[in-house]
Amino acid sequence: MLVMGIETSCDETAVALVEDGLVVRSNAVGSQIDLHRPYGGVVPEVASRAHLELLLPAVDRALVESGCSYDDVEAVAVTVGPGLVGALLVGVAAAKGIAVARGIPFLGVHHLEGHVMAAQLEHGPLELPVLALLISGGHTSLVHYAADGTATTVGQTIDDAAGEAFDKVARYLGLPYPGGPEIDRLAATGDPSAIAFPRAMWSTDDYDTSLAGLKTAVVRELRRREATGEPIDLPDVAASFQEALVEVQVYKTQLAARALDVPTVVMAGGVAANGRLRAAMQAACDDAGRRLIVPSKPLCTDNGAMIAAAGANRLLAGERSPLDIAVDPNLALRPLPQTVRRTTL
Ligand code: KG4
Ligand code: ZN
Repeated sequence: MLVMGIETSCDETAVALVEDGLVVRSNAVGSQIDLHRPYGGVVPEVASRAHLELLLPAVDRALVESGCSYDDVEAVAVTVGPGLVGALLVGVAAAKGIAVARGIPFLGVHHLEGHVMAAQLEHGPLELPVLALLISGGHTSLVHYAADGTATTVGQTIDDAAGEAFDKVARYLGLPYPGGPEIDRLAATGDPSAIAFPRAMWSTDDYDTSLAGLKTAVVRELRRREATGEPIDLPDVAASFQEALVEVQVYKTQLAARALDVPTVVMAGGVAANGRLRAAMQAACDDAGRRLIVPSKPLCTDNGAMIAAAGANRLLAGERSPLDIAVDPNLALRPLPQTVRRTTL
């Protein structure tokens, strides 16, 4: 069953073709990074216009790369929220058009459910229950998917998302947008214990996190050093900031996994591409005897394959979305259908 997945919720114009919700046949990503870089972040109006220009070429590229034609596509899935409303509208309008023109099923997908389902693309069908750390530019939350598929957000950032913190600190350090990969690269040569940045919410026993204080601490430390003439070693600052952020995310994830007694942790979203976070989460899961599933880096950042995987999963459960479905920038997660555990390769 070949499903086309379309993702335009933020600054990637992405289209992919996925077989049975499990095997990626093509994954075309039209990045808008160069367009937003001069502004230091995503400009919603620029994103919407760019999606309009980049989307149909991305559809063509996905078809060519997969060696398939429109005749082979059996359903179309698209992100309907959360995200930038104007950006979402472009993908949803295109997906509806394709579904009507081809007479195939249409599925509206939750962006974060897409990130979770990316775990299926390289690791096989997802076995519930899992605890998912969804960590991206717009979200940082811990979602518990119970054995019956029920989705409960058990913890989340009370202020900035992790990707937002990476991007803001990077901007302050004079690094280009998006800052996450830049800090990741710079931190590789720095000393993570050089500066003791605060580990916010470290001692509380809920699963929420806070990143605004860490971001402010980095800015304050840089200003202090500028004023006193103390040297500023950018790799050390990057590594120390990253370590503080990673330590708290790993700690809270393990705390929740232990309390909920889940055997598997899924980590997904753009920040899950971070090298230090991947290594630290792996080590913590190994210590605790839990399985960690993390998509490869290109499938952590926004892509169409994850949307196709999530759409296929719902289609297999007999779901369809109505063609008058609206985009919803604040869309809530829904329970995962039971087929997640019954799908076989
Ligand atoms: O999931 P995503 O592509 O888009 C959203 O749904 O937000 O995540 C983008 C975020 C950006 O903030 C970016 O800086 C961050 O993910 N990111 C990283 C890395 N790669 C991307 N953060 C830390 N380390 C990375 N290697
Ligand atoms: Zn995302």
